[in-house]
Amino acid sequence: MAVIWPEGVDRIPADRWTGEPLEGLALNYDTVENHGWYANLDHTVDQLAAFARRGDLFVDYSGGTGILAKRLLDRLGDKEVGILIVDSSPKFLRLALEKFKKDERVGFRRIRYLKEEGRLQRLDEVLDPALRERGADAIVSTNAIHLYYGLEDTVRSWRELLRPTGRLYIQSGNIRHPDIPDDEWIIDETVEVIHQVALGIVEEDDRFAKYRAALADTEYRDAHDALRKKYFLPVRPLEYYLDTLRKGDFDVTAVERRRIPARVEEWYEFLSVYHEGVLGWVGGAEKIVGAEPTDEVVTDRLQLMREAMEQIFRGAFEFGASWSYITCEPRAD
Ligand SMILES: C[S@@+](CC[C@H](N)C(=O)[O-])C[C@H]1O[C@@H](n2cnc3c(N)ncnc32)[C@H](O)[C@@H]1O
Repeated sequence: MAVIWPEGVDRIPADRWTGEPLEGLALNYDTVENHGWYANLDHTVDQLAAFARRGDLFVDYSGGTGILAKRLLDRLGDKEVGILIVDSSPKFLRLALEKFKKDERVGFRRIRYLKEEGRLQRLDEVLDPALRERGADAIVSTNAIHLYYGLEDTVRSWRELLRPTGRLYIQSGNIRHPDIPDDEWIIDETVEVIHQVALGIVEEDDRFAKYRAALADTEYRDAHDALRKKYFLPVRPLEYYLDTLRKGDFDVTAVERRRIPARVEEWYEFLSVYHEGVLGWVGGAEKIVGAEPTDEVVTDRLQLMREAMEQIFRGAFEFGASWSYITCEPRAD
């Protein structure tokens, strides 16, 4: 076995989350592994596999439940490459640990939210000195960068950890590439359109008449609009990411846009878990009105979501989603 973990570094930390039971939300997220649109990881796996050398250490930043790590290790066969999954969600990490507890190549670190400072820990704050000293051969962030509120700090911490010969691989379906074709979707922007179409259905279709009165209340509508934008953040342009990376001393060496086919049914399945974020105004979101929705309300939200998606995609089986891939190298000092 090539030496991946520096001496004294525990790949599984002695944190409380490691002993917690598996949790539903993480198990549910993990089902996207079987969705066609998770082919968005294929290009990233190709890139990482081509770059990997025996003994390398990759950091899977926001690695979540370990879907990328699993696909990469399957591709690498018995090549000894370490993957450190770093994530802010103990529930997601717990599921990743379940998958890889016996695989010496995989380690885990949790980034905590520091309440008093109102920020997440930086990467350097959660890594052992020996890991910081060693540095990473690659850092990868898949399907997550659009969620970072402190992107500049995150980029700085990536730059500090990456070896001078290292690479940074970023990809997300929620980046607006300037060349996106008219018939291609930013996947999270489907939510705004589903919301609009569902409003129209509620206004016209008497099956949903009971939800109309609440919509006359502007405060109620605004609160639900704000909630939706918390679940599904407004999309930022590619240039914003490239600028921040360049300002953080990275050279951007490649930018690609790919069309990923997403099955309408699978996207519906994914969104249905977040019905409160998508169509919480149907019956009132618990986070706003303070009461759990009844079964009837949940059924109506899901029915509306389904009908709105039918209209939007005109009964099609799948739609094209736009994914952006950014590759960087540390700028030479
Ligand atoms: C959509 S999941 C993607 C997980 C995994 N990379 C994949 O492709 O399946 C987003 C991940 O980002 C993490 N995350 C959310 N907000 C974050 C933040 N501000 N900084 C770092 N990670 C964050 C979540 O815990 C979650 O694991």
